[in-house]
Amino acid sequence: MSPFAHVELLPRDPVLGITEAFVADTTPTKVNLGVGVYLGEDGRVPLLDCVRQAEEELLRRKAPHGYSPIDGIAAYNSAVGSLIFGSERPNLDERMLTVQALGGTGALRLGADLLRITNPSARVFISDPSWENHRALFSAAGFTVEAYPYYKADGTVDFAGLMQTLGTLPAGEIVVLHACCHNPTGVDLDPGQWGEIQELMAKRGLIPFLDAAYIGFADGLDADRRAIDLFARSGMPFLVSFSFSKSLSLYGERVGALAVVTGSAAERAPVLSQVKRIARTTYSSPATHGGAIVATILGEPGLTALWHDELALMRDRIKTMREGLATRLNTQLPGRDFNFIVYQRGMFSYSGLSKTAVEALRQQFSIYALDSGRICVAALNKANLDYVAEAIAKVLRESDSQSLVA
Ligand code: LMR
Repeated sequence: MSPFAHVELLPRDPVLGITEAFVADTTPTKVNLGVGVYLGEDGRVPLLDCVRQAEEELLRRKAPHGYSPIDGIAAYNSAVGSLIFGSERPNLDERMLTVQALGGTGALRLGADLLRITNPSARVFISDPSWENHRALFSAAGFTVEAYPYYKADGTVDFAGLMQTLGTLPAGEIVVLHACCHNPTGVDLDPGQWGEIQELMAKRGLIPFLDAAYIGFADGLDADRRAIDLFARSGMPFLVSFSFSKSLSLYGERVGALAVVTGSAAERAPVLSQVKRIARTTYSSPATHGGAIVATILGEPGLTALWHDELALMRDRIKTMREGLATRLNTQLPGRDFNFIVYQRGMFSYSGLSKTAVEALRQQFSIYALDSGRICVAALNKANLDYVAEAIAKVLRESDSQSLVA
């Protein structure tokens, strides 16, 4: 009897499964607006110049591909800790640890497995809606996952609903928050709202877990750290998952970090030992090459400055694409207002396209979006913008017109 005889066939991944379908499509005009990947004007994942120079430097040094320590390259962890928390972080160092992880997903999983040890009976609350993998990841780690209200049909944050739900949670529950560029909606909390959330969470003894995968894509690296700063200054324990997949265009190198701010200096070593045990028994040690690239960039001021410039260019290009799409849709569908696309932040627009409209886009135009209606505006370029805008306008005209945010 095969152990696999009764294995359930699972549906494809809601994000990466779209890429699988896209790759199999042979239509020359196909466009992948599904996955959160920044593409340049040429429709390709860019190799940033700072990354190229760092790789050349590593080659020159004949840097070997040995194992990294279980918790990652020390220079990486130190530089990334400064990036996440800022160089001015009074009294944080003694209580804080930063561990190199396999991308943002790997960082989330390390944190989830740690929290299963510290708070085994806690529930995890994610935003409604949230990144598709949040629910799956925390469930896979053994948690019951529930949602707090986040997004209203008018395209704004359901702040009253969010506060109301958090206000009922018992101490020790875990709340996943998007530090910036909320995925999938692109609608962020304002500083005042962050302040109220932080105070409420501190008062109720909730555990914040900030997902910071898109830092640098809203207003810039420093401005986008605002929410992290707020929690850091509060003194409360919290976790941050961080990723260089997007901001350094290092998707496949799997470079990210889990940062944990513990409650006291005495807690730091035991927590680090647990995180190292989790890493060691899951993947042993993180990716040496990706970590070395990042450590090189963050260790050389010239390369760091170059990165900041290149990140700004990516950010600006996305904004231009947002404007281009909104303008075209406003022209093609007069009477509707698509300016929300311009105001949403990060790589995504929560377009409000219905599942039927998304299917029509795929079938008629080979344009791929998530079933939720999330589109990756960072995959638009001057060559495909007209095609995509005309296609969206056409499927919206054909659909029952109920589908887009008014
Ligand atoms: C996304 O949301 O598209 C990205 O974070 C890629 C992923 O792993 O899902």
